[in-house]
Amino acid sequence: MSAMFDSYSIGKLQFNNRIVLAPLTRGRAGERRIPNAMMADYYYQRAGAGLIITEATVISPQANGWNHSPGIYTSKMVEGWKTVTGKVGKTKTPIFLQLWHCGRASHSDFHNGECPVSASAVKIENGELIHTPLGKKSYETPRPLTVDEIKRTVDDYRKAAKNAKEAGFSGVEVHGANGYLINQFLESKTNNRDDEYGGSIENRFRFFKKVIEAVLEVWEPECVGVRISPNGIFNDMGSDDYRETFLYTAQELNKLNIGYLHILDGLAFGFHEKGDPMTLAEFRPVFKGTIIGNCGYTFELARERIESDDADMIAFGRSFISNPDLPQRFKNNSPLNPSDDMMRKGDPFIGKFFTGLMKPKNPIPGTGLAGEVETVGKNAKLFREGDQIFGESISTFGTYAEFICLSEEGLLLTKPGNITYEEAAPTCDGVLTSLNFLKQLAYIRSGQSILINGASGSLGTTAVLLARCYGTEVTGVCSNTNLEMVKSLAAD
Ligand SMILES: Cc1cc2nc3c(=O)[nH]c(=O)nc-3n(C[C@H](O)[C@H](O)[C@H](O)COP(=O)(O)O)c2cc1C
Repeated sequence: MSAMFDSYSIGKLQFNNRIVLAPLTRGRAGERRIPNAMMADYYYQRAGAGLIITEATVISPQANGWNHSPGIYTSKMVEGWKTVTGKVGKTKTPIFLQLWHCGRASHSDFHNGECPVSASAVKIENGELIHTPLGKKSYETPRPLTVDEIKRTVDDYRKAAKNAKEAGFSGVEVHGANGYLINQFLESKTNNRDDEYGGSIENRFRFFKKVIEAVLEVWEPECVGVRISPNGIFNDMGSDDYRETFLYTAQELNKLNIGYLHILDGLAFGFHEKGDPMTLAEFRPVFKGTIIGNCGYTFELARERIESDDADMIAFGRSFISNPDLPQRFKNNSPLNPSDDMMRKGDPFIGKFFTGLMKPKNPIPGTGLAGEVETVGKNAKLFREGDQIFGESISTFGTYAEFICLSEEGLLLTKPGNITYEEAAPTCDGVLTSLNFLKQLAYIRSGQSILINGASGSLGTTAVLLARCYGTEVTGVCSNTNLEMVKSLAAD
């Protein structure tokens, strides 16, 4: 048996295998950012992992910057998370909460018109747009945090860490990666302060360090992980002195004796091309504790890294979204559902358009934006040209579907080619109708009949499970290869 299935431990934490569910923002917590039963199901389905790391979770209102991402700063949020930890707890798989502050990767629409904050007044300039509660907008120049505000932000992390404990998590992961606030302080590209939080690497690391120290006041070291992205370009990152910065960071994190260091070493999430990519092997001699690698890993690559001792565990993101039973599939050498549903290039929304249906355009793969309404049928009432469609919301059920339609009979998920459009859209008002529908899951009622086409994809799988929870009669259509899996979900 591959080393990937060897058990592993950090202190008292026991992991059944070396496979980690990577933190993946799903945007399912609603406007009040309160975790819910659907999220509990999502994590429970993936508890075959040795370790679950939750989606990034905001530590304060100021930290917000992503529609419908969950929070951990109110008692209702803590209660919501208990639904998740309670359900995952039955499996004994450890679950860490990822603590998040978006910093400049936010917008004044999230903050009643107040500017987002950062280390310095350096704006995201990569031409991308941000989805705010009021629509798709350009990024704004952030306001540098004052030293007092930095201290208050560190307090917010401490409180969030306490709340995570109360919510029943096994530990927390401090999100220092992907161009969010901590990363903005750390890198020279985004930090041009001239006080004790800027200038030298030591100063740029200070905020990160204080956050971790605050979290360590609440949690034992083995229960604290840290994530970094030394090669990343996401959110317009990448500094000339990246290697120096991140080796220093690893060396200092080593002194803090944290449970693990989680490194996005792969380049599949974007590479800044400032020099040679940093590798896990480069970090190994510097950081003596547990190392988790991530980004673009296949099972084979992961196995190689574990067996060559460059890492102790490997995290999987997109492949785990589209394969809730990923470890099982790895173990059985079963085919994977493609995660290219999330990274589709070109125009996935092809085909004929019916009265009331719409055609999305400009999908941005992997970001949650599925497209904009380009064409609307003449009877469509609920949406207009230019309206945005968020894949993450559509993907309340998993990844993208070409069409999600709400008919009088209930929900119909369909893929072009497998079913005629006439069958797919008898009375529907289009994808946006179903988008609203998906936001209000309670619309699935007992006694309805639902046909789910592509039931073995992540979207379909989740839909089958969810519909069953509501006592709905489910007919799942899938390819023969996945028949047994679909049957095991109790699709009729
Ligand atoms: C839809 C989506 C949401 C993500 N959300 C988060 C997040 O909340 N926190 C985080 O640290 N990384 C996040 N990431 C990055 C993933 O954790 C991971 O690093 C990335 O997908 C590369 O790994 P993979 O190739 O196995 O998918 C996200 C990635 C995707 C595709």
